[in-house]
Amino acid sequence: MSNYSIKNLEEYFQVYRKSVRNPEMFWEEIAEEHFIWRKRWDKVLSWDFKKPEIKWFEGAKLNITENCIDRHLRTKGEKTAILFEPNDPKEDAQHITYNRLYERVNQFANVLKDHGIKKGDRVCIYLPMIPELAISTLACARIGAVHSVVFAGFSSKALATRINDSSCKMVITSDGSYRGSKTIDLKGIVDEALEECTSVDTVLVAKRINSEIKMKKGRDKWLKPLLEAASVECAPEIMDAEDPLFILYTSGSTGMPKGMVHTTAGYMVYTAYTFKNVFNYRQNDVYWCTADIGWITGHSYIVYGPLANGATTVMFEGVPNYPDWGRFWDVIDKHKVTQFYTAPTAIRALAKENIECVDKHNLSSLKVLGTVGEPINEEAWHWYNDNVGKKKSPIVDTWWQTETGGIMITSLPYITPTKPTYATLPFPGIQPALMDENGEEITGNQVDGRLCVKYPWPSMARTIWGNHQRYKETYFSAFEDMYFTGDGALRDEVGYYRITGRVDDVIIVSGHNLGTAPIEDAINEHQAVAESAIVGFPHDIKGNALYGYVILKETGESRKHENVRKEINQLITEHIGPIAKLDKIQFVKGLPKTRSGKIMRRILRKIASKDTSNLGDTSTLLNPEVVQDIIDHSI
Ligand code: WTA
Repeated sequence: MSNYSIKNLEEYFQVYRKSVRNPEMFWEEIAEEHFIWRKRWDKVLSWDFKKPEIKWFEGAKLNITENCIDRHLRTKGEKTAILFEPNDPKEDAQHITYNRLYERVNQFANVLKDHGIKKGDRVCIYLPMIPELAISTLACARIGAVHSVVFAGFSSKALATRINDSSCKMVITSDGSYRGSKTIDLKGIVDEALEECTSVDTVLVAKRINSEIKMKKGRDKWLKPLLEAASVECAPEIMDAEDPLFILYTSGSTGMPKGMVHTTAGYMVYTAYTFKNVFNYRQNDVYWCTADIGWITGHSYIVYGPLANGATTVMFEGVPNYPDWGRFWDVIDKHKVTQFYTAPTAIRALAKENIECVDKHNLSSLKVLGTVGEPINEEAWHWYNDNVGKKKSPIVDTWWQTETGGIMITSLPYITPTKPTYATLPFPGIQPALMDENGEEITGNQVDGRLCVKYPWPSMARTIWGNHQRYKETYFSAFEDMYFTGDGALRDEVGYYRITGRVDDVIIVSGHNLGTAPIEDAINEHQAVAESAIVGFPHDIKGNALYGYVILKETGESRKHENVRKEINQLITEHIGPIAKLDKIQFVKGLPKTRSGKIMRRILRKIASKDTSNLGDTSTLLNPEVVQDIIDHSI
């Protein structure tokens, strides 16, 4: 029996048991059989969740791009590696073969080297979903530079914070990007950000929208001529298993985003193994994940996981509603997509449109549907299952996080019986635990608690860039000897998990993690604002939307209020990006606070959700009188 490709439920249970009984032997076998190593490891795993310190495959030497590209050339050189579908359906799709990917990555790697980038240097990538995005991440990995991809919807301030946090030496961007019928001036955003950054010497600029842009002499360079002049050969830098591969920022409960650091060998093994099984990938399949590479889903399941398996991975530049709401289905039909992986927020938006948009396309190529990023509600699950999968393509509801690097709890298609809204069972190697508020593990079934993981897995983030203490406090301090996810979950009578949502101050809006603190910080910059508190409330399409309670320094006429509302959202757009804008803003006289001065968000959440019948105990509040006033004026 090969553990790499799981074939039925009995085999899943066998493999799972083995992965728990002897994790090291289990991962060693997978690593040995399915990857190429320049040197074998000395030790499979060493770990201590108290420090915390986790090392997988210590002593091993490798380069992840050799595993994602070079080794496929002999047998799959002419197979499409990346299938690029542009924003405008009238523009031709591009089929980038493994042979061509090899050349393009090497050329890019040589350009990086020519500009002084060396192993360990950080390179910020701020690009739209064009081939250069995947290619530049791989080029960094080829020479051992650490990529830090920043989603190209973030504002210049958010970009600057991320560039500065990890002192990036270079930024890779484009003149602009397409978003449906609009264009966005990415280079302008980079220019603005770099006014606040001193570490960046070079900006490489890809041409995408052919707009007139300013190029700063000595700093900014067009990519195309450099790439054309570069050699198509670049020997891979030989990396240690635990050398950092990339940094990816995620929101936290405090102001600064957390630069999660992922390392090389464990990440490669885990993303490859999960990709193969969760999507049941077969050689001639065409796999499409609609995420942006600016998020972890794109890193692990557009770039590294699929390419490590020699797969064809679709990169889509566009949006679901351009030129119309049939675009996703059109792309599936056009490229005969076999696996389709998207987010509940997209499914809900698509489900609102006329069913004709789906039905006029032939979706018979589909074999597996996936969802990720937030809990999927029952209605959306059924719509997806009935109308897209035609009840024939199993849905894998995959729970995981930026921090976990790969999919943790999921069903396996054609193997695990699905249950709407349940992510179902842990992937081999993952040992979840539900904890109560006193720090005790809740055993047995039909229980709920805080979701933790008891044992290390290969793709877990190893630290927060520049702040190991914060890593320890955020993930390893709430429960002893456990990784704490920040999510709540329940376990049903057969042991299936259902993720119920965040139990901390992170709110997931349209599948994007947003911390309340950075948004509040942005609002508080407004000169008329004294204090603010943000909570999430249920929203039809976005899953959650943001509700802001704002105390103004002075109360004034309502016309002024309208202006302040607008200005608050402008400030948020500037500091974070349009994804963090508030749907509702209520001006209040006070915020409910505990005696120690902490805002009682629980109460604000209930009011925002229009669920005020049972607000729980408010007697411990410092100022219980404000609650009724907030209810009376709620929106
Ligand atoms: C949530 C995305 C329910 C969860 C890969 C987690 C989910 C956070 C699911 C991580 C799912 C992700 N069901 N909730 N299938 N997948 N989440 O870091 O709250 O962007 O902690 O990683 O999204 O979001 P992140």
